[in-house]
Amino acid sequence: MKTSTPRKVARSAAPLTHQHAHEIQAFGSVVPMPIALAEGTRRTSAENLNQLLADTMTLRDLYKKHHWQVSGPTFYQLHLLFDKHYGEQSELVDLIAERIMMLGGVSIAMSADVAETTLIPRPPKGREEVPVQISRLLHAHEIVLEEARAMARKAAEDGDDGTNDLLVSDVIRTNEMQVWFVAEHVVDGPLARADGEAAT
Ligand SMILES: [Fe+2]
Repeated sequence: MKTSTPRKVARSAAPLTHQHAHEIQAFGSVVPMPIALAEGTRRTSAENLNQLLADTMTLRDLYKKHHWQVSGPTFYQLHLLFDKHYGEQSELVDLIAERIMMLGGVSIAMSADVAETTLIPRPPKGREEVPVQISRLLHAHEIVLEEARAMARKAAEDGDDGTNDLLVSDVIRTNEMQVWFVAEHVVDGPLARADGEAAT
């Protein structure tokens, strides 16, 4: 039988690991981008979107936390609903982050930086009851909606129609829809017998 002789590995085939260098763009800066928008406009939009991105990433993660930790008689429907909203918030995260890059900015990305930046209060690590989980989600949605509307108005004033459209058509519409689906779970309605219906 023919035995293969060990050969030297070509240098070009060896992975070059553990490389380090200076970052190529500082967070908070904007590079020129030929999209016919002034640098000041792109800078303002990128800054605003980074705040919104940090809050959207936090809301996304709050949905996954609650998807895992939910309890009680509505476990099944909330387990599924929370994960659906998690997926929709994940799509928003990508749209917002990529819009920041299109504007010449740098998207916030890592959880430690997000935690420092978000305006959404930090929940405890442990489990909470469903009404408390829902209250946290509704509060977080309201923070996002309030800032997204203000940012949309500013983007419209500045002529940044792409950012305005993302905020109005995607962020605001999705968040309003999710608030409706979540808020209806804390309406204190009867489960089996209508109010005022006499017991027999
Ligand atoms: Fe899951």
